[in-house]
Amino acid sequence: MLREILFPWALMTVSALSLPVTIIKFLVAGDLHAFTSWSTFRDAWFAVFWINVGPLAKQTAAPNVIPLLQGRLKDGKVQEKVVSQPLHGTVLEIGRGVGMWTQFYKKTIDEAEKDGTAGPDTIYASEPNRFLASTLRKHVKTASLEEVYHVLPIGVEGLGNATASGAKIEPESLDCIVTVQGLCCIPEPEKNLPLLYQYLKRGGHWYVFEHVRNDESPLISGIQSFTEIFWKPMVCCHLCRDTAKALRSLGKWEEIDLAPPQGESPYEMIPHIVGTLVK
Ligand SMILES: C[S@@+](CC[C@H](N)C(=O)[O-])C[C@H]1O[C@@H](n2cnc3c(N)ncnc32)[C@H](O)[C@@H]1O
Repeated sequence: MLREILFPWALMTVSALSLPVTIIKFLVAGDLHAFTSWSTFRDAWFAVFWINVGPLAKQTAAPNVIPLLQGRLKDGKVQEKVVSQPLHGTVLEIGRGVGMWTQFYKKTIDEAEKDGTAGPDTIYASEPNRFLASTLRKHVKTASLEEVYHVLPIGVEGLGNATASGAKIEPESLDCIVTVQGLCCIPEPEKNLPLLYQYLKRGGHWYVFEHVRNDESPLISGIQSFTEIFWKPMVCCHLCRDTAKALRSLGKWEEIDLAPPQGESPYEMIPHIVGTLVK
């Protein structure tokens, strides 16, 4: 249990160490833009943190996220065979960070083309932090995904606004939404989650891998709430969101399959939910 309790503090230590690195990096580069406001500096700081921690987060998430997007996950358990519809059609990824899943998207598109099945054909990727953009561009180029992958340099709250994004997301226009540890970061989920629900077509799939409030252990839940006081300013996200409840209550769902991933300890300070909601 001690390992689980200390884990967020280890991440916060990395964030604290990223602070002087951020200051030095932008001063040495002569990029004073990062210092123009607190929110701009906060984004620059998060980018330095995430570029280091993101690959580790991806490694931990991949054993669930890849089967999830391949339609090989049920009740939080990875299945050998496809049991539900894999990622397809017009996709929106929220909080894409540096585009950790670009290689996977490319592989999925290529395999679907080879097998004659319906893979993703357009991927919109929303992310308001401009300091992650250059790493993202490298990942998109390495994956040769330029034609399919549309970078939206804005947050979820601006997606319906054509002037801000250049690519307006219309109601009922998306086949799939992907949120991988992104809903912990978005502002005002009570306003922005209903917007996402609205963008999804009837029959559309919302693939979820999110870290959430611990409901298994009252002790850990209490420690989680205390840790969140420090976590929010240091890591720019929320530790204690009840994302499963928020998603379930968005409206009518044809199917909901959300569960903790198999093998997670009940004492996790950063526990997850994984699964798909079908509208
Ligand atoms: C923890 S990171 C996860 C990144 C990515 N999903 C991954 O798996 O590597 C969450 C991301 O959400 C982004 N974010 C913050 N506010 C947002 C908003 N309003 N709309 C969309 N994304 C946002 C953050 O900048 C951050 O890059």
